[in-house]
Amino acid sequence: MATEQRPFHLVVFGASGFTGQFVTEEVAREQVDPERSSRLPWAVAGRSREKLQRVLEKAALKLGRPTLSSEVGIIICDIANPASLDEMAKQATVVLNCVGPYRFYGEPVIKACIENGASCIDISGEPQFLELMQLKYHEKAADKGVYIIGSSGFDSIPADLGVIYTRNKMNGTLTAVESFLTIHSGPEGLSIHDGTWKSAIYGFGDQSNLRKLRNVSNLKPVPLIGPKLKRRFGIGRQLLIKFPWFFSFGYFSKQGPTQKQIDAASFTLTFFGQGYSQGTGTDKNKPNIKICTQVKGPEAGYVATPIAMVQAAMTLLSDASHLPKAGGVFTPGAAFSKTKLIDRLNKHGIEFSVISSSEV
Ligand SMILES: NC(=O)c1ccc[n+]([C@@H]2O[C@H](COP(=O)([O-])OP(=O)(O)OC[C@H]3O[C@@H](n4cnc5c(N)ncnc54)[C@H](OP(=O)(O)O)[C@@H]3O)[C@@H](O)[C@H]2O)c1
Repeated sequence: MATEQRPFHLVVFGASGFTGQFVTEEVAREQVDPERSSRLPWAVAGRSREKLQRVLEKAALKLGRPTLSSEVGIIICDIANPASLDEMAKQATVVLNCVGPYRFYGEPVIKACIENGASCIDISGEPQFLELMQLKYHEKAADKGVYIIGSSGFDSIPADLGVIYTRNKMNGTLTAVESFLTIHSGPEGLSIHDGTWKSAIYGFGDQSNLRKLRNVSNLKPVPLIGPKLKRRFGIGRQLLIKFPWFFSFGYFSKQGPTQKQIDAASFTLTFFGQGYSQGTGTDKNKPNIKICTQVKGPEAGYVATPIAMVQAAMTLLSDASHLPKAGGVFTPGAAFSKTKLIDRLNKHGIEFSVISSSEV
């Protein structure tokens, strides 16, 4: 990637949003990480200079860094003005896209990044929309040698990298994984900002298009080894899709969570894997080894998501030789499976561990 030629290694687009402000703080932390060996020139981007300045002032106060505002570039960029998007992308090695809803704003950002040779990481919670972007832009991105990586927030970094970690820790061939998410809250409960809710609604609404998209894309099905897992909780998922307003009651708000709610929340994602020990044939035998792993971290939406997004961006910048060879449009798992992203996350508070591992 063209790091040296561009004024900013990272540009946080949508820094004035509820999530963008936390991503801005996380980049500011990364900038002064004691393990950094080189400078990290970065900028915030958005359509209002005043709002961007306020975000930097708030971060400076929170992090005790009075000179922060003078260390960070400001780029004025409105999605409604394609020339401003091009101008932003030309100045960035990696754009951290926090503008939402992704459904409306993801594609113009991806196009501008590809055309102007910038890589792009976003945190949309709409994996099905990522598949459409992959169908439309994968080859263009590969031609330009840039990486477009979607869903790099709470969904899907802990889940994707958790499966990869489970596979790497199994002493044999992993053939199936079930995962269970627990969200922990403090006495003041939980809340999620309205911006994420809007994206979630579009995501749910899109479920029926996913099958059509997969038919068009002609991708080979994932190879199946060993017995197929039975689906659990199918009814619950249907209810969530049909009645999100009911199930979200009390959790989504225009103000988003308070700092106290954020500080007291955390998540645990537990994986139960099964597979075959080394040397065991997979065709006739039953799986004979099991493993249980966990990914634990701080509050999902506004602490873990910025950590995941920023460490994904740092991996793009510093671990390029372990990325897929050409560029393209990728899920986090496809992009980062051979990189040191898990080590980076472990150091930044999203911890991966093996709970148990046994022969069946
Ligand atoms: N995957 C996860 O775990 C996760 C977690 C958190 C958030 N998210 C995603 O993050 C996205 C943002 O959520 P949020 O709650 O932060 O929303 P938000 O507070 O409404 O922020 C939206 C941002 O988009 C900007 N924007 C809107 N229209 C624009 C335009 N035409 N040109 C330039 N900027 C524009 C806004 O700028 P102004 O300030 O100028 O209006 C603001 O910075 C959503 O897609 C959400 O799903 C995902």
